[in-house]
Amino acid sequence: MKPFPVFEKLAIQIDRAVGCFVYDQSGQAYLDMYGGHAVIAVGHTHPHVVDSTLRQLNKIGFYSNTIYNDLQNKLADQLGLISGYVDYGVFFSNSGAEANENALKLASFVTGRKKVLSFSNAFHGRTSGTVSATDITSIRAAVNDNRHYFFTPFNEPSSLRKQLETEEYCALIMEPIQGVGGIHVASAAFLQEIRQICTTTGTMLILDEIQSGYGRTGKFFAHQHAGIKGDLITVAKGIANGLPMAATLISPDITPVMGQLGTTFGGNHLACAAAIAVLEVIRDEKLMDNAAKIGTFLMEELQGMTGIAEVRGRGLMIGVEFDTDIRQLRHELLFGEKIFTGYAGAYTLRLLPPLCFTKKHAQIFLRSLKKLLLKNDQYSPHHSYQMQ
Ligand SMILES: Cc1ncc(COP(=O)(O)O)c(C=O)c1O
Repeated sequence: MKPFPVFEKLAIQIDRAVGCFVYDQSGQAYLDMYGGHAVIAVGHTHPHVVDSTLRQLNKIGFYSNTIYNDLQNKLADQLGLISGYVDYGVFFSNSGAEANENALKLASFVTGRKKVLSFSNAFHGRTSGTVSATDITSIRAAVNDNRHYFFTPFNEPSSLRKQLETEEYCALIMEPIQGVGGIHVASAAFLQEIRQICTTTGTMLILDEIQSGYGRTGKFFAHQHAGIKGDLITVAKGIANGLPMAATLISPDITPVMGQLGTTFGGNHLACAAAIAVLEVIRDEKLMDNAAKIGTFLMEELQGMTGIAEVRGRGLMIGVEFDTDIRQLRHELLFGEKIFTGYAGAYTLRLLPPLCFTKKHAQIFLRSLKKLLLKNDQYSPHHSYQMQ
């Protein structure tokens, strides 16, 4: 048997990791500016997360949702407190796609409608509903073609208003900062207008904070920079610092109906223990403030650098766009400079380091990037990448 090929693989085997560094089998350190798709929120093998998880594993790792699990209540309380969504409900699951799939389902249950509006360039996952709301046709199979999903241009309120006012949609699903699509930030005015249109048309606003949330932009959620609230908010990635977990936050206006949602693994003891520890670290180490501070520093430095076409993002969610293909640049960063980066399309470096990333780490990256940009004034021809 062979694993199904998922991504183009980098010729490196990571053996262990600490903080913002990963190490290969020979002991070579690499600076991690990607956190394995934004998953490593508080740094690799953070001692508090490791201790809490091991302690829990030695007590009980799993029992099904047919019994009370007080860790879920503790996590829900802490998540409500840190996010400012204290009066919301929460449904725990195991991956970003599941969190979105359940949000879409709830929006449809509660409104009785079936159409969903999404944005061009959006990425919401690979399950049936979420892949239908994802603007990448190559990952959508015929079985996903249910004709309830529609797309509208990002940051263009007039098209959105027309669509939501002329037809009934159960939900508008959106990333406040598009990640896979290339780090495109929804403006505060756009988010505020969206909130108003969704309210007047009875459309549930699903804010997919799977990549942009959990403190990454300096506030717990990226949409909070615009002072709005979602009806449903989804999180995953950094929630348990690498253990599979996700959550759908649910407005108190949506009455929970027993049995509408369910899961075997979601909210298990082990994942909850890790997730509680993650929130404690974010709070105690002031990682949201750090993300804002280091993110601003990085973006300002990058903006002034020759050879860069555009810098987009907020906090530690940064897209660096070039006029040429970045394949060679990423290769040199990884194998020459020993720095992991991500990408979005052929021209944009995607930076999603752990939230404990420091100014010193940032300077290592900036020095290396500057050196490579001075050395190479042009990169290889266009290359199409597989998206995540
Ligand atoms: C914004 C967004 N939504 C949803 C997902 C899907 O998450 P998962 O891969 O955990 O299903 C991703 C993953 O990259 C994402 O970036």
